[in-house]
Amino acid sequence: MAETKDKESGLSRMLTLEIARVTESAAVAAAKLRGRGDEMAADQTAVDAMRRELNRLPIKGRIVIGEGERDEAPMLYIGEEVGLGEGPEVDIAVDPLEGTTICAKAEPNALAVVAFAEKGSLLHAPDIYMDKIAVGPGYEPGIVDLDASPKDNLMALAKARGVPIAEITACILDRPRHAGIIGAVREAGAAIRLIGDGDIAGVIHTANAAETGIDIYMGIGGAPEGVLAAGALRCIGGQMQARLHPMNDHHRARVAEIGIEDIDRKYTMEDLASGDVLFAATGVTSGSMLRGVQFKSGGVETETVVMRAKTKTVRWIRTEHGSAK
Ligand code: FBP
Repeated sequence: MAETKDKESGLSRMLTLEIARVTESAAVAAAKLRGRGDEMAADQTAVDAMRRELNRLPIKGRIVIGEGERDEAPMLYIGEEVGLGEGPEVDIAVDPLEGTTICAKAEPNALAVVAFAEKGSLLHAPDIYMDKIAVGPGYEPGIVDLDASPKDNLMALAKARGVPIAEITACILDRPRHAGIIGAVREAGAAIRLIGDGDIAGVIHTANAAETGIDIYMGIGGAPEGVLAAGALRCIGGQMQARLHPMNDHHRARVAEIGIEDIDRKYTMEDLASGDVLFAATGVTSGSMLRGVQFKSGGVETETVVMRAKTKTVRWIRTEHGSAK
């Protein structure tokens, strides 16, 4: 492994291919349960497949964003060690099935997602909510702000793009808690792409507004998904801010337990994911970002995107797996 180890980041560039295997396996496993109405089973099979692949890698890996706590095993729990125990120390954020409900209903945009980062460079976010705002690359720093009103943020974007607000589209999770933001965005005159689930893809879409039509992501979603989305945006460019959004005392206790002292802290994208990051996502169901797993008579086909923060490389990988899979 020594000759492939990247001196500056500690992350071997060979991991670029290995990381794809991890999300491919999880996606293929979950895809077998598409449309079966069983979210737990789809999630569990994705977790099992992801763990199997992670444990084949020549890394000293540690799950820092996982699927729960140690006592909730057999999920990939926070603190779980994975890999062969040799090679670079890698902090790992996993979302083996992003969009459990959409997979269970065979709706678009379910993904298998993972990020590898240098040790200590991912925020250890508890599994609670997080308020997020994100835009793609090409804007001056600080163009939008989590604490500004939706109208001010939309006006700033419209001005920077030289278009009326009516040509700006915000992506927001379709949840009752977002009634206020949705009303404010509509009143400001912008359009909204309401999504049922999957805000990692929602954030990533802002990085390619010309194709996706999404200029800004805003709203409250999962904190783990926020860290993963920040990792991706670090690779493809853009800006993001976030703040933990506890809904109850249990959430507040989780924040304290994990060692976060300032619960109101506003995180930048770099606070969420710093240093070198590798991010990979494989489509489980077809959607706006990736084609879902295709089962064919001769085998299985997957589509994966792999990105790297250090080099800003984005690879789209279409893989044909032999029928053995
Ligand atoms: P799951 O795959 O864990 O169901 O997450 C899907 C998702 O839509 C995330 O993308 C998002 O961050 C989160 O759920 C929002 O949570 P909630 O469904 O509770 O509003």
